[in-house]
Amino acid sequence: MDDTIRIGIRLARPSDSAEIADVYVDSWRDTYAGLLPDTGLLKMSKTEHAAGWTRTIKASNLRNPVLVAADAESKIYAFASAGPSRDKSLPYEGEVFTLYVAPGWTGQGFGAALLTSTFRLFSKANYRGMIIWALADNPSRFFYEAMGGQIVAERQHPMWGRSLREIAYGWPSLDIGKPRQRVGRGAEEPEPPLS
Ligand SMILES: CC(C)(COP(=O)(O)OP(=O)(O)OC[C@H]1O[C@@H](n2cnc3c(N)ncnc32)[C@H](O)[C@@H]1OP(=O)(O)O)[C@@H](O)C(=O)NCCC(=O)NCCS
Repeated sequence: MDDTIRIGIRLARPSDSAEIADVYVDSWRDTYAGLLPDTGLLKMSKTEHAAGWTRTIKASNLRNPVLVAADAESKIYAFASAGPSRDKSLPYEGEVFTLYVAPGWTGQGFGAALLTSTFRLFSKANYRGMIIWALADNPSRFFYEAMGGQIVAERQHPMWGRSLREIAYGWPSLDIGKPRQRVGRGAEEPEPPLS
């Protein structure tokens, strides 16, 4: 029996919203327990987030993409959203707003594949450079260092009644080379998101 799971990177569709919200809320609870107040994490509503992602996906385009790592049945393992940088004082035109891999599926290459696809889209859209903000206390931020990002800024960010320290990773160049081919568990190398 062929038990290969074929997973590729593609642009999100509105029908992906519920699965994206599942990954988002599950990953927040998994990642930020102990970093963010439990009450806020418990209150997160997958229904409300799904409605928000439907709106975001409908408004998305190649300069503001939402990308998913999905199999042929549209089961979603990871996703990312990106667009023009919100902090115009920094010399990085593109920003990754969200990047989450479903708990249990980290370390399989999905994060690298999504980041690489975003670099490619931003490069085609002529963005100069890219930035990502991450909580300083989130150990997952070292992933961005593994992907060649350099710490370029810090800020305090108010959230749920707390002031949180955030660190920005920047890439002045969007050329980070060939996509990695380490998508595991029998999955295929991710396909480019665009035809
Ligand atoms: C951070 C995250 C997006 C990384 O995606 P991933 O699919 O798990 O990572 P990959 O398997 O693609 O790893 C790519 C490279 O980064 C490295 N890496 C991954 N996570 C790392 C970590 N926490 N610390 C250091 N390096 C890490 C891997 O070792 C790999 O390097 P290699 O190819 O040289 O071995 C993912 O783990 C995740 O969603 N974490 C929880 C949510 C989160 O914190 N998101 C970021 C919010 S800012």
